[in-house]
Amino acid sequence: MNSLKKTKRILIADDEEYIRDLLRETLVSLGYEVEVAQDGFEALSKLVFDIDLVMLDVEMPRMDGYEVAQRIRNDPRYKDLPIIFATGMESRRDRLRAVEAGGNDFIAKPLEITEISVRTSSLLQVKEANDALKHHKDELEQKVVNRTAELREALENMVKTQRLLVEANLETIHCLVSAAEYKDKDTAGHIKRMSHFSSMLARKIQLPPGEVELILNASPMHDIGKIGTPEEILLKPEKLSLEECRLMKQHTIYGSEILSKSNSDLLQIGKLIALTHHEKWDGSGYPNGLKGKDIPIFGRICAVADVFDALSSKRPYKEAFSNEEALRIIHDSSGTHLDPELVDTFTESIDEIVKIQNSINIEV
Ligand SMILES: [Fe+2]
Ligand SMILES: [Fe+2]
Repeated sequence: MNSLKKTKRILIADDEEYIRDLLRETLVSLGYEVEVAQDGFEALSKLVFDIDLVMLDVEMPRMDGYEVAQRIRNDPRYKDLPIIFATGMESRRDRLRAVEAGGNDFIAKPLEITEISVRTSSLLQVKEANDALKHHKDELEQKVVNRTAELREALENMVKTQRLLVEANLETIHCLVSAAEYKDKDTAGHIKRMSHFSSMLARKIQLPPGEVELILNASPMHDIGKIGTPEEILLKPEKLSLEECRLMKQHTIYGSEILSKSNSDLLQIGKLIALTHHEKWDGSGYPNGLKGKDIPIFGRICAVADVFDALSSKRPYKEAFSNEEALRIIHDSSGTHLDPELVDTFTESIDEIVKIQNSINIEV
């Protein structure tokens, strides 16, 4: 940057040798470095030598000082470069033309050393202040650019980490659910369909998108508590005794206990679903006999989805009901077992139900 340079460099353009020499000697004696040019073309070509100020003769052959000044101003690199005209012409018109061409000041010929010194140094000071300001502005802009890039990178890393964490969470949950499946008669197909029915229902009753996604990922955990249920009860083909029934119902409590160790939204919703998916609208469900809207919406949604898929899919102990039959049974449970509004919405969604069933090509 020019402002950081110790010695200022001045370009003199004059076709008269004795004036060039005079100016050069004067400016060197004042402590400046000097470049000289015999005409406008040479002056323009020497601008690249890191010039801090140009001193232009007005009358030069081939290209006069006005045109040189205009060309300098038309180049964005030199738009702030101070230009002083050294001229013998002092008419108002000449001065106006010089200003229009981009000149900053004049030195009258014959040249006088004090005038050269004062005008040169004041223009150089202005330029130095401008350069310092520009340097500061550039530095600030660069800082903003760097900071923005740093922030963007940090944000991207955070999002990446969060995504990895969510994926790791989901993988853990799937492993846990698979572990429970080993003991249960339910299948991977049931869990997938049931979770998609649940999220479809959540979307249709206009739960916020975040909750729709939560129910999609949390509902597979509804029967995770069966990991604590004795196998002979889970796999018993005959009707369960009262005591066996009581033990079976414990899977809701076990599930909620397994999932209560985390503060994540996903596991909290999973816990709520595990605990409440067997509650019934009329209060006859378990484990807490909750009634109506006291049953959390997540539990009510999962109950509809779970019952429908259990009815409409084949199990080792039963044939599959057709969708129409399954929906009729669901409809008959409206207001007793299941939330009537959810049943209405679900039974109106046969197209989506079939689409989900067809998209999940896992053996029932
Ligand atoms: Fe269950
Ligand atoms: Fe289930």
